[in-house]
Amino acid sequence: FPTFASLWAYSRISLGLAGAKRILEVMNRENNLDQNAAGYAKPMRGEVEFRDVTFRYGEGEPVLENVSFKVQPGQTVAIVGQTGAGKTSLVRLINRTYDISGGRVLVDGVDVRDWNLENLRRNISIIEQDIFLFSRSISENIAFGKPGATQDEIEEAAKAAQAHEFILSFAEGYATVIGERGVTLSGGQRQRLALARAFLTDPRILMLDDSTSAIDSATEDHIQRAIYAAARGRTTFIITHRLSQIRWADLILVIRGGRLVASGSHEDLLRDSEAYRRIFSE
Ligand code: CTP
Ligand code: MG
Repeated sequence: FPTFASLWAYSRISLGLAGAKRILEVMNRENNLDQNAAGYAKPMRGEVEFRDVTFRYGEGEPVLENVSFKVQPGQTVAIVGQTGAGKTSLVRLINRTYDISGGRVLVDGVDVRDWNLENLRRNISIIEQDIFLFSRSISENIAFGKPGATQDEIEEAAKAAQAHEFILSFAEGYATVIGERGVTLSGGQRQRLALARAFLTDPRILMLDDSTSAIDSATEDHIQRAIYAAARGRTTFIITHRLSQIRWADLILVIRGGRLVASGSHEDLLRDSEAYRRIFSE
């Protein structure tokens, strides 16, 4: 029996050691992004400027080249361009998901690398192309960016995001669990939950990566209103193909093959840009 027991214990212990080693490896991993704790930490106004920005993933070909533009606080910017043009990459440079390879990205006139990273990111929200929701209640999913938010705040945010109605249509309302163990939400519903999150955290810069979602027109109307409300009072970047959203933007950036080929208002671009007209004639 002692031999049998030690054999059994030995295999358990070596499994445990191997598991612990892998867990510790993940826990101790450091990223090479400088947190810059001593960096710029004043309240953000939301001015964004790209100066001759070049960016490549790793050692590859540049994904963005010589991109320059300037956005005033509170403006709405639409980014248009074909798939793979570099739209998602462009907005990811603002909160330093990736660092640029050349040029400068400035927020409020300060290089993003000189910002205190936590302060920079707290003021910027990105609603990704693939919205990630946790297998938790709807309330918890909305409050994700603001732990300790009250139920009133959560419902207020959901109303602003045009999500209140569909949430109440579930038997358990805000306590409804989503994901694997609960209900499945449509693309439009997920998007509105993500917008509710954004209302709750109240960022100075909001980015909405919307380029692939296919949504029926009734839902689109709801989302349109939610986005319109979300854009008020903050700098907003919207990546979209929907003309209704592009039209009311203060500034439209047309990206093609990693280059900014045209920028301006809808009227300006219709008149002056062949590339822009082509997007709508496709
Ligand atoms: N890319 C890459 N590594 C990544 C992400 C993207 O090399 N981790 C490349 C892509 O292959 C593409 C280019 O970067 O050639 C631009 O990608 P992206 O910015 O994602 O393009 P979008 O304009 O956002 O395309 P879509 O409309 O399909 O979202
Ligand atoms: Mg994209």
